[in-house]
Amino acid sequence: MNKLVIGGAAVLEGSINISGAKNSALPILLATVLSSEKITLRNVPILKDTTTVLELLNKLGADITISEDSSLEIDASKIKSVRADYDLVKTMRASILVLGPLLAKYGSAYVSLPGGCAIGSRPVDLHLFGMEKLGADITLNEGYVDASVSGRLTGGNVNLDVVSVGATENIMMAATLAEGTTVIDGAATEPEVSDLANFLVAMGAKISGIGSSRLVVEGVKSLHGCDYSVIPDRIEAGTYLIAAAMTRGKVTVKNVNPGHLDIVLDMLSDVGAAINCTSDTITLDMQGRRPLAKSISTGPYPYFPTDLQAQWVALSTVSSGSCLIEENIFENRFMHVHEMKRMGADIRLQGNSVEVFGRESLSGAKVMATDLRASASLVLAALVANGETTIDRIYHIDRGYTYLEEKFMSLGAVIKRI
Ligand code: UD1
Repeated sequence: MNKLVIGGAAVLEGSINISGAKNSALPILLATVLSSEKITLRNVPILKDTTTVLELLNKLGADITISEDSSLEIDASKIKSVRADYDLVKTMRASILVLGPLLAKYGSAYVSLPGGCAIGSRPVDLHLFGMEKLGADITLNEGYVDASVSGRLTGGNVNLDVVSVGATENIMMAATLAEGTTVIDGAATEPEVSDLANFLVAMGAKISGIGSSRLVVEGVKSLHGCDYSVIPDRIEAGTYLIAAAMTRGKVTVKNVNPGHLDIVLDMLSDVGAAINCTSDTITLDMQGRRPLAKSISTGPYPYFPTDLQAQWVALSTVSSGSCLIEENIFENRFMHVHEMKRMGADIRLQGNSVEVFGRESLSGAKVMATDLRASASLVLAALVANGETTIDRIYHIDRGYTYLEEKFMSLGAVIKRI
């Protein structure tokens, strides 16, 4: 099994390109199932998770080609199967997002209940509730969601009492081909949800309220081809900016949308970073200073993203002072804490929050990656540790970060895969 070995105490300096957003690319790839024509997609990150989705689309019967300019061409107009098997779905929770598109286009879907990152129970009840509101019959059968509708889905009012990115996306995709209008109240407003909505509109869907918590989808009979580019990955960008802050460095992330990182940039300036943005770059400069401790509390967009919580814990372990980090989206999302403690971090876990007491530095150790973002946070912790850190089970990182070693090495880190 691959491991990462990181030589500690680096000061990150330089610039890197940020890839397309994983959390946009996955639903957008699955939404191609809705189209009756060929789709061209650009800025799709090359990741384990995108490969898994492509494999799933391939198994359903889609034709996929990679062009010379690295765009993807997907023709999912002649799907032969509506079944998403456990073997694929278990490795990636987002596979459940194939449910809405299959049901809307083909009237039935047989999709395994998902696995994915072990961060809490992560149910799919809201996804199923939404499909039922649009007229689907749903039964659970030996670990599979068996969904069908006679004729087309029918538009309806769906009120989500928990803000869910995935449920919003699944219901919105299903509603595009339903008969009549669907109103989704309590919709997630994450940039990735809006990116998917914009992609659906580019295919001919009629959606209003994009970016708000009320989405109105007027069903159409069919969707057509388009050429679409995925937005930049705000979580990848945030990870490198936090890494720059904790190593007291100066890093520019390019090909980003600074507007998607408002709260994160505010918090980073509060810890003492000088931040400068252009329309598509962010430069963070710590001017050699140690970051100050700053409490955060995660929440649905536009609040602090849960996907950067673990990285913020890493930053806080070497900040001056103490702070409280509250996780409000997922239970059991503090597995990184136990590993960071093995590196000498002073962290106290209490329910859904941790109190972190900053230390001058950490010490290298053998640690284990437990989920995608937790793994990234261990890389960050290793960068400020004295001595070598070995991170085991890094397949989690490969699910969400492209060219991680290359990017960190180009910023001056000593990191290799063994
Ligand atoms: C997506 C992101 C993930 C991010 C999360 C929150 C993708 C591929 N993944 O995950 O990186 O951490 O948003 O920003 O885009 N819930 C229910 N019932 C449901 C669905 C969700 O109770 O049917 C709960 C979850 O347990 C969780 C909360 O809603 O407590 C938010 O989860 P959700 O927004 O659905 O996360 P994902 O879409 O899985």
